[in-house]
Amino acid sequence: MCGIVGYVGGREAAPIILASLKKLEYRGYDSAGIAVLSHGKLAVCRSEGKLENLELALRQKPISGTIGIGHTRWATHGRPSELNAHPHRAGEVVVVHNGIIENYLDLKEELLGRGVKFDSETDTEVVAHLVNEKINKGAEFLAAVQKTLKEIDGSYALVFLNQSDPKRLILAKNSTPIVIGCGDGETFVASDIPALLDYTRKVTFLEDGEVAEVRADGFRVLDRKGKAVQRSFKEIAWDAVAAQKGGYRHFMLKEIHEQPRAITDTFRGRISPKNGDVLLDGLPFGPAELREIDKIHLVACGTAWHAALVGKFMLEEIAQIPAEVDYGSEFRYRFPLLGSRSLLLLISQSGETADTLAGVNLARSKGSRIVSICNVVDSSLARKSDGVLYTHAGPEISVASTKAFTTQLTALFLLAVGLGRLRGSVNVSEGRRFLRELIHLPKKIEEALKLENDFDQLARELKGAANFLYLGRGLNYPIAQEGALKLKEISYIHAEGYPAGEMKHGPIALIDETMPVLVLVPKDRYFQKTMGNLKEVESRGGKTIVLTDEPGTFAASAFRVLTVPKTSHYLMPIVLTIPLQLFAYYVAVHRGTDVDQPRNLAKSVTVE
Ligand code: F6R
Repeated sequence: MCGIVGYVGGREAAPIILASLKKLEYRGYDSAGIAVLSHGKLAVCRSEGKLENLELALRQKPISGTIGIGHTRWATHGRPSELNAHPHRAGEVVVVHNGIIENYLDLKEELLGRGVKFDSETDTEVVAHLVNEKINKGAEFLAAVQKTLKEIDGSYALVFLNQSDPKRLILAKNSTPIVIGCGDGETFVASDIPALLDYTRKVTFLEDGEVAEVRADGFRVLDRKGKAVQRSFKEIAWDAVAAQKGGYRHFMLKEIHEQPRAITDTFRGRISPKNGDVLLDGLPFGPAELREIDKIHLVACGTAWHAALVGKFMLEEIAQIPAEVDYGSEFRYRFPLLGSRSLLLLISQSGETADTLAGVNLARSKGSRIVSICNVVDSSLARKSDGVLYTHAGPEISVASTKAFTTQLTALFLLAVGLGRLRGSVNVSEGRRFLRELIHLPKKIEEALKLENDFDQLARELKGAANFLYLGRGLNYPIAQEGALKLKEISYIHAEGYPAGEMKHGPIALIDETMPVLVLVPKDRYFQKTMGNLKEVESRGGKTIVLTDEPGTFAASAFRVLTVPKTSHYLMPIVLTIPLQLFAYYVAVHRGTDVDQPRNLAKSVTVE
């Protein structure tokens, strides 16, 4: 996720672009850049790191001009660096991009074949070259962009500026947002509304497949076929902080709702549904090396550790590779049996968690391979690993992890299917089936999100309970633990997550009529067993809240039965996570705690 902005009007563009980028810094903050048409020539300024570095560079060398574009980056392709920062330039064209161009490697190869030289490692630079090539061959600016869009696949919000066409910006959209704001003799462009609110409240959103031509005195929208589209304005009444949260009350809720998009971005470009295969882009090992792996050690902390527990099921059952899971803080001080055929798989949203990072040195000394599943590009963990499977969740601002978790599960599923195909435990048709199910997952998540009102209501009813128990079996017992952790973290209520069958060995003593018990009962191979555990709770007076995809079978004795959409066995943990996140969120809201910054917690724990 990146932030993009554009300005055309009568004022100095650079300060407006900078101020707008500041409002979008939550979308990315590893590098930033700006391009302004200054005295008839493109002036580009980019810098690595936070926006303040760009501000400093511009203070030292100001750029004057009344049309320009800007970008704040959250790296996906190419590490955070000045060269990879946007805008990207080819000839007289500059572009800023939010999204992922899936077929950029093929396009880059073709361009290299035609003698084009690249300055960066990004997917975006390909787009700049494609447009520039067409302009060089005589195409008009807008037509060159339209033709280029036919060649690229993926998600994008793009803003182009052309030195030889100084009065307009060209915009294009597919799957990632872009909004146009109208002022008096000036027009603004941004990824999100907060960037515009200091200048205008009159906005309009582009739709997928649309292209827009933006000038100081207004704009024109064209559909996929180049036909003009009528577009009316919306008046925005939000205040700026609320807008930064996209209209949501908290970042956590916003991030919960971003999950269909984040999951799509994580598998996008990595799957070949036709061949039932997965492109393990982050692994720098050849097929022979990957076949050789005899054990996977998953190491992580907190929520990421829960993802690792689910990953163990996926890797052992799908890829048929023995796997074990450790907390980072434990792994570093024990003597795990690592060898040159072991793979250390570290999972971390931030890539900066000290205990997780400590596993790297241990594995290095034993000659093991090291791969991480990480959200922050070029984080310490990413740099120290041999390979990285990035989750493309975008920045996670809320301390309680939500979209990072479900994208970690998505990446683990991709890894399990990819390794399974490579090692022969998954054949083509099974691979196709797995990937078909994955492609449908974002829709299922959207359906699960519709349970929001039910969980808001349930949270109101149960917010006074002093303890909660969460139960699940198989690869859903870590989800019970994750549900309990979310509740603890943000509502400060004591909660335990347990494998349902383990309850009778201790926690059952806690059950009475004051104890709400959330039970995950999907219709899987554990269904009858978990039903048995449910009865054990009910017969002791516990208040059961059942989450299931098979609601018909539950007796009226359950306090509440809530239905989640059906999905396949290995993706059910992701679907079941959504209601548990919503429940924890609403309990915290109704108890009045600080949801996004709960007491005593830090977003990344960089100390032991
Ligand atoms: C829980 C949470 C923490 C983190 C843990 C690891 O909501 O956010 O438990 O999951 O501190 O952090 P990362 O994934 O950054 O290594």
